[in-house]
This record gives sequence, structure tokens and C-alpha cells, in this order.
Amino acid sequence: MSKPRETALLRADALAKVFTIRQGFSSQSFRAVDDASFTVEAGKPEIFTIAGESGSGKTTLARMILGMELPSEGTLSYKGRDVAKLTSRDRREWFFRDVQPVFQDPFATFSPLKRVDHYLYETAFNYKVTDKAGADGYINQVLNEVGLSLAEVKGRYPNELSGGQAQRISIARSLITKPSMIVADEPVSMVDASLRMSIVNMFRKLKDDQQVTILYITHDLATAYYAADRIAVMLRGWIVEMGPVENVLGSPMHPYTQNLKASIPQADPDKVWDSKISLADLDTEEFAQVGCKFASRCPAVMDKCKHKVPPNFERDGRMVKCFLYE
Ligand SMILES: Nc1ncnc2c1ncn2[C@@H]1O[C@H](COP(=O)(O)OP(=O)(O)OP(=O)(O)O)[C@@H](O)[C@H]1O
Ligand SMILES: [Mg+2]
Repeated sequence: MSKPRETALLRADALAKVFTIRQGFSSQSFRAVDDASFTVEAGKPEIFTIAGESGSGKTTLARMILGMELPSEGTLSYKGRDVAKLTSRDRREWFFRDVQPVFQDPFATFSPLKRVDHYLYETAFNYKVTDKAGADGYINQVLNEVGLSLAEVKGRYPNELSGGQAQRISIARSLITKPSMIVADEPVSMVDASLRMSIVNMFRKLKDDQQVTILYITHDLATAYYAADRIAVMLRGWIVEMGPVENVLGSPMHPYTQNLKASIPQADPDKVWDSKISLADLDTEEFAQVGCKFASRCPAVMDKCKHKVPPNFERDGRMVKCFLYE
């Protein structure tokens, strides 16, 4: 019998990342990403948001998806292949081209001493463009995709660009290798508030025009609600609610998602969650909790929540990890 064809673009199966923090003679391990499972389908471009408060594991998950960090447990497969088992050649010549990152700080990816077009040409020549004239045309084309042109960008140094322009150029660069997936970690949080929507809109356009799936990582529920097709809400490494954005943010079921939605006024996109985890927090806090990691903050907590990990339930067109829906 022939093997069933893999239909997923990306599949995470019980993914975990364990970090150990050392302080003096003591050390403590915790699960920055814990039992995360989800599927991104192939041939169905979407904007899939990963949201959650600071320290919930979004960047750690993104780094595993980008192949920058190995999972401690579980598997990640991309187009049917285990990312951890790729040969270095396949990583370089296939995976790192097909899955492109966009980072929070566009200026961190450009040296202040180099003209920004240098990066575009470098990526184009590394890809498959061979001559200068071909490169000019191709680079102009990818810049057009993000609302810029080569004439506007050529010869400019990073300090001559606004944050919004620099982020557009780094997105243009990510398009050069014609990726199937872009992983954008907080791509608009350093961009002027007035320009955020235009970048988020651009992601929607790229999804349609370039047939690229975008993993949009953010703590900003307002842009997520506006731009995303699907959302996964993270809490201390877990995915606690996941589904179409109109279901999950329109009528959140997990008390944590309800809490997040209530605490973020839609009118204030600058308001962010804060709660950096330090070692001091860790030993008492939610990472170490035996049952549900939200139990100590949950307004609907039940006795069993303190002892047992809630399973994932399928309810009302989404997954929700909460005993209330047993
Ligand atoms: N290399 C590392 N070693 C130890 N702990 C780490 C490491 N990287 C991240 N962490 C910790 O793992 C947890 C999750 O961090 P992560 O950066 O993934 O969260 P995040 O959701 O992206 O947060 P933010 O919204 O602030 O970007 C945090 O407690 C963080 O301090
Ligand atoms: Mg982060």
C-alpha cells in the first residue's frame, strides 16, 4: 500500500522546549513550549497568529519552526519532513529558503555601514538570479510587492529609512526566495503605531498574491483580530485555545483568552502585556503548576484544575484546553 500523501505544510506534534536556568548553585528546568500541537495545511495560504502574553513561549516556538532551535520533545515536520533530521545541505538549499523569517527589529538585520540594497542583491544572487540586469528587475518586483521600488531604495543606508520602510525592505528580502511560509515575530511592534495596519494589510495581500502562509506572532490582539485567519493562544508554553480568529477572539471560551480580550482595550494597540519571568517567579509560579497553568489566576477554577492537566477539547469550531468544556 502506498503511503498517504502528506498534506500539511507544517505540523507540530507534542512539541516542547525545555530550558534550564542556572543561578548560583541552583538550577531549574521549565518548559517554555509545552505539548504544542497544530497543523498548517499546504495549498491553503493563511495568516496564522500565535498570540499570548510576554514569556508565553511565542519566540521559542518561532525559533523551533525556523530551525534555529531544536525541539526537546515532539516533532516538527515541514512538507512531510522532520525539520530536526534534515541534512545541512537540505536545510541550506531548501528549508532556509522555503521558510523565511521576519524579525521584530528590521534595523538589527541590516548593518549600519552597508547600503540596504546590498542585502537584496546578495539574497537574489544566492538564490538563482545570475546577472545584474536580471537582479535589478527581480528586486524591483519584490520591492513593488511591499509598496516600494528599487529607485527609492537603491543606495540608501539604514539610518536614512523609517522603521516602516526598513521593515518593508526586510519583508521584500524574505520574498526573494519565493518562500511557502514566512515566520514574522512581532513584525510591527517597533513600527510606528500609525503604520502598523498598513504592514498588516500588506501581509494579507502577500498571502493572496504570493500564496504564502504567514505565521504572524504578536501580543497585539487588535491586529491579530483584523489580519489573521486563525489564531493559537499561548499560555506558559501551552496552546490553550486555537481556531478561526472570529470564533476564538469573537467569542473566547478559555478563561485566559477571555481575560486577555478584556484586558486589552481595542483602542490602545500600544498597551502590551508584561510579566517577564524571572527565576524567583518560576518556583512558585505557573510554569511549575501541576494542573492547569492558569489555575492560580482563573476566575472559574475548580478543584481538579489544580491537580490535573486539562485535555484539549473540540468545541464550537475550535480547540480549547479547559475542564469547563469537558
Ligand atoms: N535560551 C533561553 N534560555 C533560558 N530561558 C529562555 C531562553 N529563551 C527564552 N527563555 C525563557 O522562555 C520563556 C519563553 O520566552 P519567549 O521569548 O519564547 O516568550 P515570548 O512569548 O516570545 O515573549 P515576548 O512577548 O516577551 O517576546 C521566557 O520565560 C524566557 O525567559
Ligand atoms: Mg517573543
